[in-house]
Amino acid sequence: MREKNTKMWALRYLSAVILILTPFPIVNGGDCGAKFQNKCSCGLGEYIDRMQYIVNCTNTGFRDTTMLQALPKQTEVLIWTGNYVPELPWNVFGAINNLDNLTIIDMSNNHIREIRGKSYHHVSNVKRLILNHNNLSISRDDDEFNHHHPRVFSNFINLMELHLTNAFSDNSTEELSEDLHDIFVNSNLTKLTKLHLEQNEIKKFKDKRVFCDLPSIRDLHLGDNLLEEINFDILCLSHMRFLDLERNKFTQMRKADLYMLDMLGNIPKRDTDLIVDLTYNQLACDCTVNNIQEWLTKTKVKIRNLDNLFCYKQGHKYQPLLSVKYNKCHVQSRDTTIAKGHTIALVFLSVVILTILLTLVITAIYINRNRIKKIVNPVMTNVSRKVHYTTIKDDDAPEQYV
Ligand SMILES: *[C@@H]1O[C@H](CO)[C@@H](O)[C@H](O)[C@H]1NC(C)=O
Ligand SMILES: *[C@@H]1O[C@H](CO)[C@@H](O)[C@H](O)[C@H]1NC(C)=O
Ligand SMILES: *[C@@H]1O[C@H](CO)[C@@H](O)[C@H](O)[C@H]1NC(C)=O
Ligand SMILES: *[C@@H]1O[C@H](CO)[C@@H](O)[C@H](O)[C@H]1NC(C)=O
Ligand SMILES: *[C@@H]1O[C@H](CO)[C@@H](O)[C@H](O)[C@H]1NC(C)=O
Repeated sequence: MREKNTKMWALRYLSAVILILTPFPIVNGGDCGAKFQNKCSCGLGEYIDRMQYIVNCTNTGFRDTTMLQALPKQTEVLIWTGNYVPELPWNVFGAINNLDNLTIIDMSNNHIREIRGKSYHHVSNVKRLILNHNNLSISRDDDEFNHHHPRVFSNFINLMELHLTNAFSDNSTEELSEDLHDIFVNSNLTKLTKLHLEQNEIKKFKDKRVFCDLPSIRDLHLGDNLLEEINFDILCLSHMRFLDLERNKFTQMRKADLYMLDMLGNIPKRDTDLIVDLTYNQLACDCTVNNIQEWLTKTKVKIRNLDNLFCYKQGHKYQPLLSVKYNKCHVQSRDTTIAKGHTIALVFLSVVILTILLTLVITAIYINRNRIKKIVNPVMTNVSRKVHYTTIKDDDAPEQYV
């Protein structure tokens, strides 16, 4: 009995020593303490293939951000999700905190509606900012408030990845692109290589140059939106290597789009291929398919999952895009094909109507030939007389002047 007790104490003593000797807790974090309402864990943990100091507040339901001013100085990864803070205040991380090692901020799913121009300070080493699933408004004249803070990301001078999936309030307008552009211009995101804008109900970009002030962009993710064409400037993004357009509303690839992709894929200084993802767009099974096929034989651009690309008939998946072939597509754009069809129909109709009219007139003349003769004959004689008279008169005329 006593021996067993001693053994147990020895074991406990040993484990206590081991715990003290271990410089950091190995498993993700201990409690961050009372300032974090004991809801968060702080400590080393594996994140992206590397041990990092993680502050993890997942689904914590906070209603303000005060605890973030007490962030440990060695924090490398901040996960702060599942809270309710419609408005991020100034200096979220405190006015004097130095967070030199902070490289990743995940503030997804917090109902954030407004981020002020001065919300983020001391974030100069942050490389990845995740703001997915929020309710952001960045418009100038939304409601009666001005939510537009063009310098909102300006302190992220080393930002490489910006995640804005489903980040904007629903029913985003076309103006979103103008507001975004303004932010990109003013935030000087010269190192940004990855931009995620999926699930934002984007129909088109009113401001065509929306991405042109992000000179380092390599991956542009626009999946799950409502785009029907590439109506924004991509030629200004000379480093682009992946353009994600899956699950949009493309029913054809316009020649202009294909041409533009080709130009981008052929920029001489590029170091990788340009890859485009078009899967789950309902490309129509018609002559426009030929455009894509023809383009594919010549272009350097790679289409991702090409074997999984289908064309659709009346909303139903019909055939693999590569296997359909439409013959007799003289005019290749669908619009002009329709226009040509209309022209042919019109010409045909005109010919039919003219033929009918002519037949009617000729028949009428034939039936009434006697009556017409009666009317025409005197007139003819009259005319010929007149002609004769005029001719004589004309002949005479010069003599009067001789
Ligand atoms: C953060 O905590 C949540 C739940 O508390 C856990 O599921 C998640 O894996 C943690 N994240 C990291 C990177 O440790
Ligand atoms: C930041 O990281 C470096 C290198 O890992 C380390 O030497 C330094 O102590 C860290 N800074 C803080 C405040 O923990
Ligand atoms: C987003 O903001 C609008 C306007 O303030 C509000 O009506 C809506 O409930 C918010 N949605 C969410 C999910 O927070
Ligand atoms: C978005 O707009 C549609 C129609 O324009 C409307 O039916 C829907 O309720 C709106 N959704 C939100 C979240 O405002
Ligand atoms: C933008 O950032 C670059 C370096 O990243 C810097 O040289 C330039 O001065 C900055 N411009 C503005 C307007 O802040």
